Amino acid sequence: MVKLVFCLVVVLYVSLCYAGKKVEVLKYLSRLNKPPIKSIKSPDGDIIDCVHISRQRAFDHPFLKNHTIKMEPNYHPTWINNNDIKVSSVMNEDGPSSSSKPSKHGTITQLWNSIGQCPKETIPVRRTKKEDVLRASSVKRYGKKGYSTFAKPNSIDPDLINQNGHQHAIAYAQGEFYGAKATMNVWNPKIHQPNEFSLSQIWILKGSFASDLNSIEAGWQVSPDLYGDNNTRLFIYWTSDAYQATGCYNLLCSGFIQTNNEIAMGASISPISQLHGSQFDITILIWKDPDEGNWWMQFGNGKVLGYWPATLFSYLTESASMIQWGGEVVNTASDGQHTTTQMGSGQFPQEGFGKASYFKNIQIVDESNSLRAPKDINTFSEQPNCYDVQTRNNGNWGTHFYYSGPGRNPNCP
Ligand SMILES: *[C@@H]1O[C@H](CO)[C@@H](O)[C@H](O)[C@H]1NC(C)=O
Ligand SMILES: *[C@@H]1O[C@H](CO)[C@@H](O)[C@H](O)[C@H]1NC(C)=O
Repeated sequence: MVKLVFCLVVVLYVSLCYAGKKVEVLKYLSRLNKPPIKSIKSPDGDIIDCVHISRQRAFDHPFLKNHTIKMEPNYHPTWINNNDIKVSSVMNEDGPSSSSKPSKHGTITQLWNSIGQCPKETIPVRRTKKEDVLRASSVKRYGKKGYSTFAKPNSIDPDLINQNGHQHAIAYAQGEFYGAKATMNVWNPKIHQPNEFSLSQIWILKGSFASDLNSIEAGWQVSPDLYGDNNTRLFIYWTSDAYQATGCYNLLCSGFIQTNNEIAMGASISPISQLHGSQFDITILIWKDPDEGNWWMQFGNGKVLGYWPATLFSYLTESASMIQWGGEVVNTASDGQHTTTQMGSGQFPQEGFGKASYFKNIQIVDESNSLRAPKDINTFSEQPNCYDVQTRNNGNWGTHFYYSGPGRNPNCP
């Protein structure tokens, strides 16, 4: 009898908790998913809501209540047009020996765009589903990176390395920066288990890595927990307190203000680069508007997507002090061994074009709003036997490097 009562209490408690979480999730979703003007069902299972531009999540932020949306930046960094020739074509860096390898004109698109388009004055928003939130450890943590996901290349504190198992293979520049640009090829790395991820991105950074880091990030990622599948997706991220209370992926919190009606943050991108085959890449430019201080983002060949208002930040209101380019994975080492989650193509950088992942035409924006190659770049990797990075400086690729790796292998047990 006691046993039965006990069981009943447990069952009641569990179902109440479950119901409680469900109500919390539904409430959260009704705040997150704004009523759409039109919805598009993408072949990859996503629903893309076309939300009126003035009703987007960003304007729930107390700082942005009276914000007047900017539809265009006041300035683009200069010589952006000179560079257009190089932007969408994948060129071989190594001259005649490798120019016989297949290399294709890479135009990356988003799948949902093949089904429909969002009308003017709306923005495409990937709808968050109940299952998406239920996969997160809590409603609060949904859409956020774990703590200490930064690479701290300067003064390497052993305690910080491998905390939460975040691993990097990056190149970085230090100085005073007003933006950054790069072209990176796009892959579909294998993820060992759902709570790990693999991404490739640009970081725009300033502040203390331990407490109040300001970061603006954009690139591509595979993250089963965040999206519920293994697709390669375009993403953005921001934080103003070292990934603690502020910031999130994509449009999952108030922050980034989107102006573009063609590209959805968090939506799948294709085609993907093939080992020994065609290479496809994306170009991302992030720069600070000298007049208003907002950080703008451009995707591909001139699509301005929107901006992070200056008021979101403490340090990035002025300038950035470090730019990073490269890859990051989570290694949970769940079975006592290093994860087999791949970074980039899953090949080591020594493999070069057609096999390794690259960042090319790496540039920074200087105080005169000009794009130029960084004076110095350094590289950093916690465990080069697992994921490595290698700079190169030849051919017509400007400043560039290869980075990537397979994770677990005989030298990375
Ligand atoms: C927004 O503007 C209204 C009217 O000008 C003003 O009363 C209100 O205080 C402003 N709110 C904020 C958060 O600035
Ligand atoms: C993602 O890939 C892993 C293997 O890498 C596989 O086990 C898993 O079922 C895939 N998940 C989905 C949702 O397709």
